[in-house]
Amino acid sequence: MTEKPPPGRFSGAVVMVTGGAQGIGRGIAEAFHAAGATVVVADLDAAHPARAEAVRLDVRDPASVTAAFEQITSRYGGLDTLVNCAGIYPNTSLLDLSLAEWDEVYAVNVRGVMLTSQAFARASGRWAGGRRIVNVSSGAARSARVGAAHYCSSKAAVEMLTKVLALELAPSGITVNAVAPGLIEVPATAALTPEYVATLVAGQPVHRMGTPAEIARACLFLADPDSSFVTGSVFDVDGGFLAGTTLPPS
Ligand SMILES: NC(=O)c1ccc[n+]([C@@H]2O[C@H](COP(=O)([O-])OP(=O)(O)OC[C@H]3O[C@@H](n4cnc5c(N)ncnc54)[C@H](O)[C@@H]3O)[C@@H](O)[C@H]2O)c1
Repeated sequence: MTEKPPPGRFSGAVVMVTGGAQGIGRGIAEAFHAAGATVVVADLDAAHPARAEAVRLDVRDPASVTAAFEQITSRYGGLDTLVNCAGIYPNTSLLDLSLAEWDEVYAVNVRGVMLTSQAFARASGRWAGGRRIVNVSSGAARSARVGAAHYCSSKAAVEMLTKVLALELAPSGITVNAVAPGLIEVPATAALTPEYVATLVAGQPVHRMGTPAEIARACLFLADPDSSFVTGSVFDVDGGFLAGTTLPPS
């Protein structure tokens, strides 16, 4: 199951990717493995890239977070990078939104990031390259969309959490940054019709969806020893979506 990573830039580093069983997180896990890291996929779902170790983790649940971090740090002697990618994004308009759905989105997307970051900060690292937290936010943090009051506001919270944690964890030598993807090809977005996708990306400078590998490259940059002076930042990887629209004036 677990295969030794090839030698690379991240050789010796232990990287945990929450939500790494599929979608963007899976792409991030594969990229860190290819760059030489020992990768732990921490997810509700037991599926995971063949060459990573899997640990069952429910980011909503403090006991689950504690158990997963104890398991990994006792096995590897430390944890160097945490990528907080687990997230959910249901669509429901305000008038139909239940309190349970609102709380669920916040439990996964916000409380989850807080709990895993806290556990990570309390653990120690073992790699000379430095310790990093990379949060996966979304363009939705700063571009409102219909039916996503809970999701958009939860990702705005993730971006502010990123900045506060950057301040608090700098003395511990931990940098904290976020990557904000635009529309990315994952199993959920594969269900969108080509016409709908074309409409969504029509005004975006790069007229296509991105890939998990493109998000992964930004995560690798933020986890790299060379990014040691970058903290509290949000890196938009969105084909220019947040830059503005290329649609001509009517
Ligand atoms: N796909 C996109 O277009 C897009 C765009 C912007 C941001 N994002 C963000 O990227 C991240 C990944 O999205 P995706 O599209 O790959 O989603 P996905 O549904 O394909 O994958 C999400 C993963 O998170 C896991 N997960 C869900 N709840 C969990 C929990 N409580 N504990 C642990 N793991 C849990 C799931 O099992 C799954 O493996 C999310 O934070 C999402 O908000 C996605």
